Amino acid sequence: MSGAQRRSVILGTGSELPTKVITNQDLERMLETSDEWITVRTGIKQRRVLEEGKGNADMAYHAAVRAMADAGMEANDLDAIIMGTVTPDYLFPSSACVLEDMLGARKAFSFDVNAACAGFLNALAVADSFIRTGRARTALVLGSDALSRLLNWDDRSTCILFGDGAGAVVLGASENGDRGILSVLLRTDGSYAKTLYVPAGGSLRPANPETVQNNEHTITMNGKEVFKVAVRSMEEISRQALKEAGIDLEQVSLVIPHQANRRIIVALAERLGVPMEKVVVNVDKYGNTSAASVPVALDEARREGRIKPGDVVLLNAFGAGFAWGAAVVRF
Ligand code: UT7
Repeated sequence: MSGAQRRSVILGTGSELPTKVITNQDLERMLETSDEWITVRTGIKQRRVLEEGKGNADMAYHAAVRAMADAGMEANDLDAIIMGTVTPDYLFPSSACVLEDMLGARKAFSFDVNAACAGFLNALAVADSFIRTGRARTALVLGSDALSRLLNWDDRSTCILFGDGAGAVVLGASENGDRGILSVLLRTDGSYAKTLYVPAGGSLRPANPETVQNNEHTITMNGKEVFKVAVRSMEEISRQALKEAGIDLEQVSLVIPHQANRRIIVALAERLGVPMEKVVVNVDKYGNTSAASVPVALDEARREGRIKPGDVVLLNAFGAGFAWGAAVVRF
């Protein structure tokens, strides 16, 4: 790769998890399930839930402030704020706009990206394009979701899986060297739109007493189908992203997969031939935090010293749409 090529470099990371914890034992008291079932089938032990009266941007704010401090950047240094989310504070405006005001980022243009669990990678790809084409020199990229707001707490096949959280990275343009986002790829297959979705609350089925009565504003999912396609798709796109970056799997120091289910992560690692020591897993602590899962895990991995300068990290995610993606980043 040419040294003169402009790339996006990750200058800082940050994350925020709500303080309220719901353990598997708590769920045992709420519905017919068991810690054993949840642990064996998913690897999840507990999840965080955003307190009432707070919205997505309240979580995202703390993640953003930490990422900016890590990058040594002020709000007015930001050219763009792009947030992957499916749980914005309002249907509109975007949570990125709400966050822009909270941060006082007066020069930034801001918008949300809706790609469910792949939201962060989609936001990263968009920000990377702005930076590589010179439209922005800096960008705050977030994955932030409060899926607890979309759960039917009587549906044991979904409510045990999800949690809330926010993760952020600050990107900056760099003209020198081989650091930064080496490749980022996105895919979708809309024929699976109803395999994982929230049936009501949009323009097709606006809220009415019947939709509320029928719990149609909550997540509906065929978990087995998601599982199957997720593993296959994340393997495929990871290999493609590595190929495009000119990186062999042996050169990858760390894989940071979407945290949906420990069994999905293990199956993916097996298919890629990557040992679990090189794979970040925190789904036990937070459950599936949707768009936040990859940036939260990335931030934790950095703070735990698992990423050193020069390391190549593979990120991947899969979720509703279906939408999925992968990125290869050199730190
Ligand atoms: O980011 C993408 C978001 N979604 C995902 O990643 C989901 C991917 N899918 C999965 O993680 C798994 O499919 C699940 C964890 C959702 C389910 O695991 P599974 O091994 O596919 O179980 P299953 O749905 O086939 O259910 C097996 C049994 C059923 O009972 P019967 O019909 O065999 O008698 C369920 O009723 O387990 C029962 N079951 C439960 N039992 C106790 C389902 N949920 C629970 C529960 N506690 N929470």
